[in-house]
Amino acid sequence: MKTENTVWHEQQISKEQRASLKKQKPCLLWYTGLSGSGKSTIANAVDALLFARGCHTYLLDGDNVRHGLNGDLSFSDTDRIENIRRVSEVAKLFIDSGMIVSTAFISPFASDRKMAEDKLASGEFIEVYIDTPISVCEQRDPKGLYKMARAGEIKDFTGIDSGYDVPATPQIHVKTAEKSVQACAEQIVEHLITQGFIS
Ligand code: ADX
Repeated sequence: MKTENTVWHEQQISKEQRASLKKQKPCLLWYTGLSGSGKSTIANAVDALLFARGCHTYLLDGDNVRHGLNGDLSFSDTDRIENIRRVSEVAKLFIDSGMIVSTAFISPFASDRKMAEDKLASGEFIEVYIDTPISVCEQRDPKGLYKMARAGEIKDFTGIDSGYDVPATPQIHVKTAEKSVQACAEQIVEHLITQGFIS
């Protein structure tokens, strides 16, 4: 920590008060999966379903956050770790404001996902594994990046020459090759209902 000589200032309005005004229980849906697995697509579909139910939500998306806050970071292991550290801190602030937050980042390292979980109160972190075989991601190749990675034009590409730790015990396991985007989104919303985050 380089920020010495700073003192935490307690705020007058609590997370619980902000959440109760919104009539919801804040949580973080942490989407993880390969590039092209469908994280952003499904997170957007869930966000739309939640919005329609009157929930207060916000979605932090990997590609978008890398256009701004994290625009200075590459895809080296060190920068991916910093990417996830910053995003988990931002997500924590949104949680503190009483929101239901979604983050859609490859987040390839289990240790970083654990670090994000450890920043939050017990039960707030919900790991959503968007499980799509790499062969399917590569076939979809929505941004043409797999093709470029195979041609050696992009290096450190997840699943090709950079690793991905498969989640061992995700709270929600979504298999996108087997059902529609809408069905995947409903599976996630159903989890939030049964776990009492939304009514
Ligand atoms: S993470 O690994 O640091 O969590 P993040 O989710 O922010 O990754 O960004 C991944 C997105 O960046 C991919 O969906 C893809 O569009 C783009 N991208 C560009 N280069 C790479 C690369 N080398 N590896 C993975 N994704 C890449």
